[in-house]
Formats: sequence, C-alpha cells, structure tokens
Amino acid sequence: MCGIVGYVGARSSIDVLMGGLKRLEYRGYDSAGVAIVDDDGAIETAKRAGKLKVLAEELAAHPLHEGRTGIGHTRWATHGGPTDRNAHPHLGDEGRLALIHNGIIENFSELKHELEADGLTFESETDTEVAAVLLGREVRRTGDLREAFRQVVNRLEGAFTLLAVHRDEPGLVVGARRNSPLVIGLGEGENFFGSDVAAFVEYTKRAVAIGQDQIVAITADEVVVTDFDGVPVQVEPFEVAWDASAAEKGGWSSFMRKEVSEQPDAVANTIRGRIVDGEVHIPELESFGDDELRGIRRITVVACGTAAYAGQVAKYAIEQWARVPVEIELSHEFRYREPVIDDGTLVISISQSGETMDTLMAVKYAREQGARTISICNTQGATIPRESDAVVYTHAGPEVAVASTKAFVAQITALYLFGLHLARVRGTLPHGALVDALAELQAIPAKIEEVLGESERVAQLAHWMADTRSVLFLGRHVGFPIALEGALKLKELAYIHAEGFAAGELKHGPIALIEPGQPVFVVVPSPRGSANLHPKVVSNIQEIRARGARVIAIAEAGDAAVLPFADEVIRIPLAAPLFEPLLAVVPLQIFAMELSQAKGLDVDQPRNLAKSVTVE
Ligand code: F6R
Repeated sequence: MCGIVGYVGARSSIDVLMGGLKRLEYRGYDSAGVAIVDDDGAIETAKRAGKLKVLAEELAAHPLHEGRTGIGHTRWATHGGPTDRNAHPHLGDEGRLALIHNGIIENFSELKHELEADGLTFESETDTEVAAVLLGREVRRTGDLREAFRQVVNRLEGAFTLLAVHRDEPGLVVGARRNSPLVIGLGEGENFFGSDVAAFVEYTKRAVAIGQDQIVAITADEVVVTDFDGVPVQVEPFEVAWDASAAEKGGWSSFMRKEVSEQPDAVANTIRGRIVDGEVHIPELESFGDDELRGIRRITVVACGTAAYAGQVAKYAIEQWARVPVEIELSHEFRYREPVIDDGTLVISISQSGETMDTLMAVKYAREQGARTISICNTQGATIPRESDAVVYTHAGPEVAVASTKAFVAQITALYLFGLHLARVRGTLPHGALVDALAELQAIPAKIEEVLGESERVAQLAHWMADTRSVLFLGRHVGFPIALEGALKLKELAYIHAEGFAAGELKHGPIALIEPGQPVFVVVPSPRGSANLHPKVVSNIQEIRARGARVIAIAEAGDAAVLPFADEVIRIPLAAPLFEPLLAVVPLQIFAMELSQAKGLDVDQPRNLAKSVTVE
C-alpha cells in the first residue's frame, strides 16, 4: 500500500526522499508528499495528488530549503480520497511536526472526537491526521518527541507504520510499526527508514527489519529500538542480497517488460544452490526434521491473487509427488471459516512482498491454532517470513511492476523444490523420477528463453486485438490456474473483462458466453501427458469453434492436432506436463502487457492497484 521513507544524515534529505519514493512508488501512487526539517529548524512540506512526478514538478517549481532530516510518502488512499489535502505528511503541534502513515488507524474516529473536544482542529478526512494532531498534543504535554510518540502508538488500534519529525529535534526521525512494514538502512553517519529496502539500497545494503510493536528513533549516528513500553530491543542487521541497479529499469521501456524478460533468471536463481548431487537441498528447512515432514497429513496453502494461482499449480505437483492432500485457500477467507488445523497440518504461505496483510493474518491465525508454517517469499526482511517457522526465499530479485510476473514463476519453482524434497523424505517418488523432475526444472530457464523468442508474434496479436472487450481463458489440470492467471493479468493490465475457466467446466455454463468472434485462449495440455487430457481439450476447442469463438491455442511444439481448429497457435517447447505452466504463462503475460501498451495504459502502475496490499 503506501510507501514510506525517512532520512537523517549529511545529504540533502529531499534528494534521498525523492529517490526513495521513486523506488517505492509501486506501493501506491495516488498522491505523494515530503516533509523536511530545514537547516533553519522549520518544518517544510510539499504534497500533491497524483503520481510522484506531479510532486517532483511542484518541487522543481517551488523548491524547499535545504534540510538533512526528512520523511516522504506515496499514498494508496484508504480514508479520504486522493486529494492534495489528504496526501501525507500531516501536521501537528501547529505545524511544528510532520507525520506520515501506512496502514489504517481503526479507532481514529473516537480519537478525533477526543481531540476536537480539546479544541483541536483538522484539515483532512484522513485517519492519519488524527495521529499527527494527537502527537502534537502529547509533545506539548511531555516536551519530548520520543516519549510523546510512545504514548501515541500505545493509543492507536489497527495497522500502522508511522514516521514523524519535529522542528525542535532537527536531527531525529521517530518511527513505529504494528502490522505494517518498516525497515531501517544503516549507513555511515546517516540512517534511513523505508517500507522496504528498495527505499535506501542505493546508499546502504545493511538493513534491520523492525519487529511487531516496536519503536525506532534514528539520528545520523544512532539507531535505538524499543518495544511500545520503551524497553530496549536487540536487533540483527542483514545484508541486502541485490543492489540498486536490480530495481532500475536499465534501458527497458517498463519494469514489466524487464521483469518478464528476467524470468529465466528468476527460476535459475531460485534453483541455485538447492540441487546438490542430484538431490534437493533446502537448508532453510532444517528446522523441519524428516520425521516432522513424514508426519504431515495435510498442506494448506494461503495466498492471494497471482501467488494463490502459483499455489494452485503446485498443488498438482505436490500431491502427485509427495502424496499429501494440498488445499489452496485465499488468505482472506481462511481465518474466517474456522478451518480444521491439527498437528498434522502444514500451512504454506506464498507472498512476493511478504507484507500482504490478508496472508500475514492467515499465517498468524494458523500459528495460533498450532500449525507449523513455511513462507515462500521474495522480499528479505519482510513480515510474513518473520512470523513463520521457516522461509524459502524465491530469488526473483525486486519486482517493481505492480502486476506479478517473475515472482510467479519463482514461486512455482520454490514450491516444486519443496514438493520434491517432501517426496524424497516421504519415499513417495522413485529415485529416477526425482532425478528426472529435477532435470526438468533445471531445463526450464532455457525453455522460457525460447518462449520469450515468440514475443513479437504475441505482441502483434495483442495489437490486432486492442479493441477487444472480453477474453476468455481455458485450461485443464495445471493449465487451469494458468488460465486464471492469464485472465487476471489481462484484467489488471488492460482493464479488459476476462475470465478463466477449467475447460471441463465449459459445458456446465460458461459456453453460453461464446458468440461469434469471442476470443478464447486455450492452454492445451501436452499430448504426451498420461491423463489423456489432450484429446478432451481439443474437443473443447472444437465445441467453442463451432459456436464462432476465435481460438488462440498455447500448445507444445509439434502438437499438430490443434492446427485445424485454432485461429492462432503459440508454441511452447516440450516439457514434462507438470512443468508446462512455467512456459505457458509467459505468452499470456506478454499478451496482457502488449495489449495494455497498445491501449496506451500504464503497464507498471495500473489504476486502483498497489503492489503490496497491507490493509485487509
Ligand atoms: C497480480 C498480483 C496480485 C498479488 C497479490 C499477492 O498480478 O500481483 O494478485 O499476487 O496481491 O501479493 P503478494 O504475493 O505480495 O502477497
């Protein structure tokens, strides 16, 4: 959701803040603002509705004075529309302090009444301003920003990361977090705050992830972390595994184009070091002994959106290899239905950001119920891995475009490695089959590269279809979640109505949607698959073709059976059936991306979305 950045040091804080906000803009982009404590000890702010460039233009036209301390914010509106007035920072103590916030303060209305009764006034419709005004009152009362801040966070309910500066303490930024992310960057004579490490990785790769219900005060030379009672907390710094250039466009026209092209590396890097002498080796899972893995009776996967579809693909593989039932549950549904969890249940969460509030809450709930939890995550220092018993990182590198692409293939890869590890421990897969599966996985990066070679054809198709109003996607078995993912990509990137269906479900209803000219993408299973699904899907294609559908088949090289019935065939290289999703998804991503660009839309930052959904 919102992105936050803070700085204290010798640099011009406005440059650090704007650079950090640019890297965090994917988190929310309906307004942005900064506040600095200038070198004369006054608070100066600038804030604007719209994307960050609107704020940048404002700052170019009306520069702020120099200042070495500051905070900055990109907003994804929750309380109050995306207006200049509702943009952060918000002021308190009659303009002497500025505060920014990510999350939702649930008791803001009660606090607002209390403050109004004290004669204090508000300028915006946001929950955040309540925290700013409350902090102002407490600073007046205590005469101490740190103590006042501690009092305030103890009065707030809900989810929040807060940063604040006060003109009377020019070299200090205070921050706190509850259920929203906050990371510190440790520099030499300077320190940073960020919603994630992208905010400051340009300056330092040493970072500290702040835990739940903790307060941090940073000055240029010191970082002090306490809990909400003021008791000091020991922190463990970590090294960020990628550098600033990984989060740059690097000559690509969009982050999405770059990230789609990085998929071979996303898979290869997720495998790297995890296959040793023909065996899966996941050191991160050492806390799960073999006996415990043998004792698992059921796996529940919790995730949202694209990450949930990765889980849905992996269900087929894990059940086939490790003979454990796997259910996929949308995180936001999971904890509201009294799920059956016992000591034989393993809960696996999948999250690129590691911050999705719905998934975080599902993991916490699962642990409270006694489940053991593993997180599949792409972001170091994120909250969900910290709340889990173990984490298997996907090494896709930073994913900046809001719609997920490379993280998806990396998630499937990590889950497949886990499934093969489980199968080995449980003795459910013959050694030869295990070795073959690992070889298949290792061959995927080169095969994705081949699929990327088809990009031009897919782009042409998208340009021809720029006026399309609705697209359907069909698939079976592992192709079914790929159909769902293809539809999701098209909805979010090109704002086109799209639906994904299991091809077998067609005649139970959705076939009524088919009318002459209706485009339908069909993910065709391999004719070499043992379940003999291929002829069934070819029949489905004939059924929709007979009703006038325009069929675009994603089919493996050499599959001639689809040719008479498909209007277009996009080829993917041969792979064992369980591995086809890692290839078949790529043309669907490219199609959505190209259609978005053909319509002149912002492919990296689609309307209404935010990369990291940190509110429920
Ligand atoms: C779709 C997309 C979202 C995310 C979902 C979960 O392109 O990006 O559906 O997959 O919001 O996000 P994470 O993986 O960060 O938990």
